[in-house]
Amino acid sequence: MPHPPVELTVHSAQPYNAEPPRTALAGRDITPLEAFYHRNHAPEMPSPDPGTWTLRVDGMVERPATFSLGALRERFREHSEVVTLQCAGNRRAGLAEVADLPGETPWGPGATGTARWSGVRLADVLREVGVEPGATDVEFTGADVTEEPGAPAPYAVSVPREKALAHEVLLAWSMNGEPLPVAHGAPVRVVVPGWIGARSVKWLERVTVADRPSDGHYQAVAYRLLPADASPARGRGVPLGPIAVNADVLAPADGAEVRSGPTQVTGYALAGGDRTVVRVDVSTDDGRTWREADLDPQASRWSWRLWHAELDLPPGTTRVVARAWDSAAGVQPADPAEVWNPKGYVNNSWARVTLHAV
Ligand code: MTE
Repeated sequence: MPHPPVELTVHSAQPYNAEPPRTALAGRDITPLEAFYHRNHAPEMPSPDPGTWTLRVDGMVERPATFSLGALRERFREHSEVVTLQCAGNRRAGLAEVADLPGETPWGPGATGTARWSGVRLADVLREVGVEPGATDVEFTGADVTEEPGAPAPYAVSVPREKALAHEVLLAWSMNGEPLPVAHGAPVRVVVPGWIGARSVKWLERVTVADRPSDGHYQAVAYRLLPADASPARGRGVPLGPIAVNADVLAPADGAEVRSGPTQVTGYALAGGDRTVVRVDVSTDDGRTWREADLDPQASRWSWRLWHAELDLPPGTTRVVARAWDSAAGVQPADPAEVWNPKGYVNNSWARVTLHAV
């Protein structure tokens, strides 16, 4: 089915936070640029000049170095990966229905998307500069200056050394075969497959090898999973890293009017980390009984798995529920109340859409 032009829901203009409707993601291995969500923390988006842009690689390395875009292209082989990005705040609106989440962007199902990213392997760059033996973490610093929590600071987060050296992590300059758009981090961003979107730093300026995780706000305070009764503070809660198994129904739209009888329902499932999706179940009786959806071939090891199921809908209202299982036998929890947390992260409760069949 052809997709109509995409109208993003803009949650805020500054910082620019916007998501596509779920149907714009449906049935596509690769999300077109116009349907890709935007998640920013700084009020102003930087736009570094690719001609003068440089990347500094320093910290616990044997040969600190600075690379221009030309030097990165010349020195290292280009690689491409189809990778799903997903914000830890995706589906937060479902948690906000359980209890208020003041000040947090009420993301629907669209803070996720899949692109073909091209650039160089971070591992190749790190090998060139030589990581020192005691190093445990690799920090990425962006050019954008965020205002939280009071003192302005560049956006900075890290990943463990082991992930930084994994072949799938890219310093990307291209998205879906186009030069990386400014809004998605041009000229170069990090892409960390399997991990929450927050670690895929845009407008990358510096890679610092260290013996501790980043002290940046978006790792030391935000993007941490807190117990329901805790308030955010430096170092509290669990830092979110690998994505938790999640899935959604993408089409028909929630609340759609459809014809009764056989109806094709489609969606995605994403295992996260280095796990894979092994099964997707759908239910029309709120999880009392389930049937297996058909899994479509996966575009890459690091992309979502699209699925489809034909449901026989009686006239009237039906709630379609879906849940995915991953290769570690992890399954989505039934209820958003089970996973509610004060910052509203990781709503991976069962996907639910309501359809009206006539
Ligand atoms: N990188 C920088 N420099 N600044 C940011 O605010 N947001 C992060 C990540 N990288 C962010 C960043 C978050 S929370 C997500 S989910 C992804 O970028 C979103 O990437 P996108 O806007 O290209 O979709």
